[in-house]
Amino acid sequence: MTERRAGIIGMGHSFPEGVLTNADLEKIVETSDEWITTRTGIKQRHKAAKDEYTSQFGTRAAQQALERSGLSAEEIDIIVCATTSPDQILPSTGALIQAELGATNAAGMDLFAACSGFIYGITMVESMIRTGQINYALVIGAEILTKYVDYTDRGTCVIFGDGAGAAVLGPVEGGKGILSTKIRSDGRYEEQLYARGGGTRLGTSHETIDNREHFFRMKGNEVFKVAVRSMADISNEMLEKAGYTTADVDLVIPHQANQRITEAVASRLDVPMDKVYSNIADMGNTSSASIPIAMDECIQAGRIREGSLVLLTAFGGGITWGASVIRF
Ligand code: COA
Repeated sequence: MTERRAGIIGMGHSFPEGVLTNADLEKIVETSDEWITTRTGIKQRHKAAKDEYTSQFGTRAAQQALERSGLSAEEIDIIVCATTSPDQILPSTGALIQAELGATNAAGMDLFAACSGFIYGITMVESMIRTGQINYALVIGAEILTKYVDYTDRGTCVIFGDGAGAAVLGPVEGGKGILSTKIRSDGRYEEQLYARGGGTRLGTSHETIDNREHFFRMKGNEVFKVAVRSMADISNEMLEKAGYTTADVDLVIPHQANQRITEAVASRLDVPMDKVYSNIADMGNTSSASIPIAMDECIQAGRIREGSLVLLTAFGGGITWGASVIRF
């Protein structure tokens, strides 16, 4: 009998219909399509309407993932919703999604690890499934970041977009599943990407609103350097742990932060770009949702097939980072 591992048995994704193009942004801030395309690779991003919220997209992605897994909502033991843009402070978006799904036997929760949230989520549930503590988990990355973006700050507002992706994980055999996975953080770099308003430190006041403290702030070029190094190093570590090298990998799915970051990570890992997936031109940076959205697109397009060896890697505010090696 082969070892019981945790594997991905169904995926789904969803995003708002609304689109914000670079041409739209040219009308809002001092920028240009040429600048955004050259510096980030982004041409458009999806943007939620005023009355749309995170759990709606998380629920739709989860429903699709459940359908494709062949499981019912009642069979799910835990719902981990990775998000930095929850519906509200309390209750968790995971609990709200649980109610929408009718996953009455699950524990719903949120996980706060910015753009690394999906890898954090699968790393958490991987050991729970492998050791038999639970059977089935839903890991969701869902974000409406455009509601946390300051549309007077051209350094951040051109980057982020909205969407959700979800994966059902369960026990798999025959050498498939998550072969290695690791997450890291370093809070000393908290000033690289943050939103301070609304929490217990600053609270919410006329002053915090006037100072626009509830919006994301980012030191873009500092993020860039640390992101490339961290993602490449942890990817190599996880490949070695799984007994592989980059030459064995069929597909790399990095967090879709910026096309130049993706290219720099690929170059550091010595992987040709035709083995690296990118949808940044159409989606922008959807934070914790970017990897599951990209994975589902690859599964639907046949770029991930049975037997594919896939490397995931992410980096986000915190700072946080991680990597997983998965055999499908
Ligand atoms: N349009 C036009 N000019 C812009 C601009 C925009 N949208 N945003 C910034 N600029 C300007 C700056 O004001 C600056 O002008 P100055 O030289 O006159 O002061 C100049 O462009 C260079 O700014 P800088 O921040 O050094 O640019 P950059 O090459 O680092 O690119 C980012 C900026 C944000 C695209 C880039 O740093 C980046 O992608 N970083 C990673 C961000 C990321 O992925 N975050 C998510 C992590 S999960």
